Amino acid sequence: MALQTPDPFQREYFGWSEEEFAQRFVEKVSGGRLRQNEAYIDLKLERKSSGQKVKAAYQDVVNLPRLVKTLPGLAANPTPADYLKSVSNFVRDNRGGDLFHWWRKLREGVKTPLFGSADIVNVCNLKCVHCYWWTTREPTAGELTPEQWRTVIQNSYKKMRIANVTVVGGEPMLRKDVVKVFSEEMKNRMSVVTNGTHPMIPINGLYFVSVDGTEETHNRIRGPNTYARMKTNVKNFVDTGGRVDANMTLNTLNYKTVIDVLREWDDIAGRISIQFHTPFIDDDPLWLPFGEERNKTIDSIMEYSSNENKHFVINSKEQFELMRGNWGYKCPNWMILPLDYRGNIKMPCCMGSANKDALQPQCDKCGLAPYSGVLAGLFPIEQIIGN
Ligand SMILES: C[S@@+](CC[C@H](N)C(=O)[O-])C[C@H]1O[C@@H](n2cnc3c(N)ncnc32)[C@H](O)[C@@H]1O
Ligand code: SF4
Ligand code: SF4
Repeated sequence: MALQTPDPFQREYFGWSEEEFAQRFVEKVSGGRLRQNEAYIDLKLERKSSGQKVKAAYQDVVNLPRLVKTLPGLAANPTPADYLKSVSNFVRDNRGGDLFHWWRKLREGVKTPLFGSADIVNVCNLKCVHCYWWTTREPTAGELTPEQWRTVIQNSYKKMRIANVTVVGGEPMLRKDVVKVFSEEMKNRMSVVTNGTHPMIPINGLYFVSVDGTEETHNRIRGPNTYARMKTNVKNFVDTGGRVDANMTLNTLNYKTVIDVLREWDDIAGRISIQFHTPFIDDDPLWLPFGEERNKTIDSIMEYSSNENKHFVINSKEQFELMRGNWGYKCPNWMILPLDYRGNIKMPCCMGSANKDALQPQCDKCGLAPYSGVLAGLFPIEQIIGN
């Protein structure tokens, strides 16, 4: 019988138990934040008296729908049948059980991540002017094979009972082999964020395509002809029964086009998520400063939601209120487990790097949707986040 050569592929967390993973990961990401910004407020979990426990449980129940809404998957204009399907998937995949597990841990005073992100690739076919990924990219080899990703998924996201992983990069559609592994392993618990320039394949999850303005503005940010290619690929996928949501990152080049983008994509995309550009350097000209212009932009999106289509924009009112100013000092970065293209843990968040000496995003000017969305949906934030 031929001897099997042991696979030398190893990551430090492969041997960690679930408890150890939660503790070491949370210490790692919180430590990174504390070094970066002294104004950072870490979530303190305090033991409560019985009376306080009853009050807290009541408030959690009241706030639960807000957090559930951050789990992707519900159709744009949900019919009662969509709601039923969504609830049935939720129960069948045991995501409800995992959410309860996360909540129970939190109430026991233990923080654990609920979401994940994975940079599955270390290349991109575009070089968008605003992109954080190019800021910290290391030109080193070491991309993982599909089977190595399977091992990483089992030892990280699955071990930690993660409710949803966002597959990014670089451009993830350049590694369809790995996208397929995520679709198999994280069935109904994965989404892919793509620039849309490559055709999409059917997955057990959701696509988010990045739309960065109306055609001319998008091309200015992402490169010639990128808009037409992206729109054709989305339409082709939607025409064959697929669903694609959109994501727009607002910066000084494109914020004035946001309402036109909403109107144009309302008929094509399922829903749209809006976020703001996060700078890595001081005086970044792409960052839309806090104040009048930013507030007017947020007001106009909220008006669109109330007057034209209340289902299209994913962000909640609470999240938009946070995005008007600095919420990053209380960022719940421990809620999302971010891995780089080698399967190493990134710090302080999905925009950071596993290399602790890499340039860091500026938390006090952060506009990222997933983290502000989670903060807005967290159980009574006024109580569990200090001030
Ligand atoms: C890094 S890309 C990777 C996935 C894919 N290549 C794409 O463009 O969708 C993920 C998302 O991050 C957004 N993004 C890039 N740089 C950003 C920044 N500095 N601040 C906020 N979002 C940013 C992109 O617009 C895109 O929607
Ligand atoms: S396509 Fe995505 S990863 Fe590539 S440069 Fe643009 S934003 Fe960055
Ligand atoms: S998501 Fe924003 S606030 Fe949170 S750690 Fe990353 S840059 Fe900082």
